Amino acid sequence: MDFMELAKARYSVRKFDPRPVEEEKVEAILAAALAAPTAKNLQPQRLLVLKSREALEKLTHVTGCTYGCPLAFVVCYDESVCWHRSFDGKSSGDVDASIVTTHMMLAGWEQGIGSTWVMAFDPAALRREYHLPENIRPTAILVMGYAAPAALPSPNHAASITRDQMVAGESF
Ligand SMILES: Cc1cc2nc3c(=O)[nH]c(=O)nc-3n(C[C@H](O)[C@H](O)[C@H](O)COP(=O)(O)O)c2cc1C
Repeated sequence: MDFMELAKARYSVRKFDPRPVEEEKVEAILAAALAAPTAKNLQPQRLLVLKSREALEKLTHVTGCTYGCPLAFVVCYDESVCWHRSFDGKSSGDVDASIVTTHMMLAGWEQGIGSTWVMAFDPAALRREYHLPENIRPTAILVMGYAAPAALPSPNHAASITRDQMVAGESF
């Protein structure tokens, strides 16, 4: 699938089949996460891979958006490793972790694995359930798996601003 086809075909899967994702596909998704660019190539991304029933059950205490997934990644960054802008101290962590998450989402789709990016989670509950140390900051949860036969894109999927609404300025 070429890139634009892939980018346009992907949609947030919110109903998963319980079938487990094959180990080689999990590894390919992790390889895509490793290939992501990060600020100054400091690679602060740190991931939890949740596959066991216990680990996935804990996730239901953290977010209402698990959608019956058989696989999830918690995408975090290590605040002590990421780049900080000298002008104002802003950390690259959320940006780095977001690029990583995007790579994973698209690498999954290429292999027939759907996902939804979840930001609606309780960070304190996440920290508690998975014993995250203070320097490890969660950015996203990527719930993944094969789409259930009844899965459909949400009506929101097709909504799009126009090219001209998006381009705020040209030829400055
Ligand atoms: C940063 C971010 C946070 C999101 N958080 C959630 C979430 O917590 N729960 C959820 O069901 N979907 C979440 N989504 C999915 C979006 O709602 C979805 O991508 C958007 O509506 C477009 O639909 P599509 O992915 O099917 O194209 C999130 C997406 C992004 C990029």
